[in-house]
Amino acid sequence: MVRLSELISGEGAPDGDEPPERKSEPANFPREPGLLSREARDGQSLAQQLYRDTVSVMEGILACAGRGDSIDASALVGLLDKMSNRVLLESSELARLALVNHEGDQPAVHAVNVAILAMMIGDELGKPKTKIVQLGAAGLLADASLAPLGDITSCARALTDSERELVQKHPLEARVVLSQVSGMDAGDLLPMIEQHHERCDGSGYPRQLRAAMVSEDAQIVGLADVYEALTHARPHRDKALPFAAMKDITGSMREMFAPGLLRALISRMAIYPAGSHVELSTGEVARVYEVNRDQPLNPVVDVVLDRDHRRVEQIMRVDLRTRPSLYIRGPIRESDIEAE
Ligand SMILES: [Fe+2]
Repeated sequence: MVRLSELISGEGAPDGDEPPERKSEPANFPREPGLLSREARDGQSLAQQLYRDTVSVMEGILACAGRGDSIDASALVGLLDKMSNRVLLESSELARLALVNHEGDQPAVHAVNVAILAMMIGDELGKPKTKIVQLGAAGLLADASLAPLGDITSCARALTDSERELVQKHPLEARVVLSQVSGMDAGDLLPMIEQHHERCDGSGYPRQLRAAMVSEDAQIVGLADVYEALTHARPHRDKALPFAAMKDITGSMREMFAPGLLRALISRMAIYPAGSHVELSTGEVARVYEVNRDQPLNPVVDVVLDRDHRRVEQIMRVDLRTRPSLYIRGPIRESDIEAE
């Protein structure tokens, strides 16, 4: 088992298929976030650094793809290796970073978020580390073939028929982009990327494949892509709460993906994922700090607003598993918190 401290110091070996150790929480711990253990703080800052570095590398890669230049993806290999470490992948911080709003929410940010979510689903399914790294790489590069289309994909107006046709060809254009990638074994990614918009019910594109014709790996990347898109704002629409996104995916979209993959997404991201906001039964508002995998409806939360919705002087951390009388009434939008 590779510990975070080893990962941070670069001494960690690949963690193979060994199941992760799970730390037990103290029974009842209102705890001030500033008093987090050094290991937890190190894990958070490592996740944040990895996130920033990967976005930065992807900005360069997408710029090259946009110009039709050759792409040196060697920097991604080390980043994906670190990010795919189970201790880090199962920490709340990477999930939180993949869900919160980042300035601009540019294509590079979307790519990194999809990669993190695809790796998390793969980890939840018990995939080996080599496969998890591949899922991450496919998530990062799935939309690189959109880069030459410029602003088409980010404009607020409806696309014309010819523009939509161009966009829907991007999985097929992946072959050209991947042939220009060096420093990474990109050939293995092609089947996943070519099919990442295909859906089991035949509603996807470009080939309207059905059921088993859509590979499981491609479905994982596609599911990560859909969940990421729903939980982030686009020029023509607001973002959905993670709770509502999960409802959509398991409701109207449930025929699009294999049931086992939907279960893995729900299990890993939970209804109230890390970083989302909730109203408690006391009327207080809290931010989810960590999902309790054994009780997803009772996460560890930081109480940030009192019952009159005023900011609290000292943030209180509560493990809802240990407080049966305290429960979550429902999710709250981040914008409602900011308005307080
Ligand atoms: Fe795509």
